[in-house]
Amino acid sequence: MADFDPTAYGASGIADEYDDLYAEHWETDVTVECLAELANGGPVLELGIGTGRLALPLVERGLEVHGVDASDEMVSKLREKPGGDRIPVVVADFAKADAGRDFALVFLAVNTIFALPDQQAQVDCFRNAARHLAPSGRFVVEAWVPDVGDFRHNRVVRPRITRPERISIETAELDPVEQMMRTTQAIFSNGSVRLYPANHRYAWPAELDLMAQVANLHKEERWADWRRSPFTADSRAHVSVYRR
Ligand SMILES: C[S@@+](CC[C@H](N)C(=O)[O-])C[C@H]1O[C@@H](n2cnc3c(N)ncnc32)[C@H](O)[C@@H]1O
Repeated sequence: MADFDPTAYGASGIADEYDDLYAEHWETDVTVECLAELANGGPVLELGIGTGRLALPLVERGLEVHGVDASDEMVSKLREKPGGDRIPVVVADFAKADAGRDFALVFLAVNTIFALPDQQAQVDCFRNAARHLAPSGRFVVEAWVPDVGDFRHNRVVRPRITRPERISIETAELDPVEQMMRTTQAIFSNGSVRLYPANHRYAWPAELDLMAQVANLHKEERWADWRRSPFTADSRAHVSVYRR
């Protein structure tokens, strides 16, 4: 896989099994409920819309949803689903893409901010999100909290999926100087093994808050999850709400 090619995600082959892969891990209903409340009836832009896991249920709730995604393969999966062909999607890099209007809510789910290659691209993304916000609009970012204590000599092997019919193991390598994590997930099922490499330029919540400030946004909320659980020293992920 080329380093941080924005089109690479779906090209790895993951688009074919994406929806099924983490189905039991994600609380999609809870996420959609929270996003709909944050949108408060206004139009929504999802950066990295993927297969429409979140976008389609938001449309079902009567919201107008647009998307940006660089992967033809992921967007094709969205298009195959009922209603998926009616969501306007710009196929481009979400750090720069122009969706052509403003929104009450712009969001990035599931660590997708870390798919951008470096701090500059992530700042560009915050600025781009801010550019797309209506005057009191919100930008919401879901991401994990880097846990470098997991690593020994900057490497770790960890189980991810542990179902009877499907398991996956991830190898991860850390570059603490560049805040880079390179992972490969090996999925074993149906008598085959698939390898899905991914690169992450990780950042702690405080760095994301500073990116927001650079983009003239301020932090309104930070929760540990979409249920709005309090964010604490033990939280391994966060949902952060920024506002103009
Ligand atoms: C982990 S998936 C998340 C999909 C969806 N948001 C969800 O929650 O199920 C990340 C998505 O972001 C897209 N993506 C990654 N980097 C991108 C970039 N720089 N520009 C546009 N899309 C990107 C990938 O193609 C993929 O569809």
